[in-house]
Amino acid sequence: MDRLPYYHLLHLFSLFVLTAHTFMAFGNPDPANRKRTMMITGIASLFVFISGFGMLHLLKIPYSTGWVIVKIVCWLGISSVAGIVYRRAQWRGLLSLITLLLILTAVYMVYFRPF
Ligand code: HEM
Repeated sequence: MDRLPYYHLLHLFSLFVLTAHTFMAFGNPDPANRKRTMMITGIASLFVFISGFGMLHLLKIPYSTGWVIVKIVCWLGISSVAGIVYRRAQWRGLLSLITLLLILTAVYMVYFRPF
């Protein structure tokens, strides 16, 4: 059985969920929603990680490849911003810009693989 398309599907779907709920937190950083957002983004982030490393394993790409390391850094950043915005709601403009740049960088890395 070819598992790769399932990992691709899981990777993209969890990324959509992670991004959607992160931007929901930016739009309404009401601490009453914090627990729910942290749970959903936490689970989605875990699935992005599992599917990403699952694909690296199937494609026999070393973890230390340059573009993979950059993606891991982007993943760490994207996964942590929702938690920050509930504490520092005044930073949400900057945080959403940073998140967009991290998404762009991660997607650039997978399609262009500059290193
Ligand atoms: C732990 C972090 C991550 C790892 C290890 C990882 C790894 C991978 C791998 C191995 C692929 C498949 C490449 C191929 O098919 O040749 C992939 C695809 C992709 N990744 Fe990631 N990734 C990570 C995080 C992210 C993040 C944070 C984003 C965007 C915000 C992202 C966006 C994508 C996209 C758009 C694809 C292409 C999917 C497709 O062509 O179907 N990844 N990733």
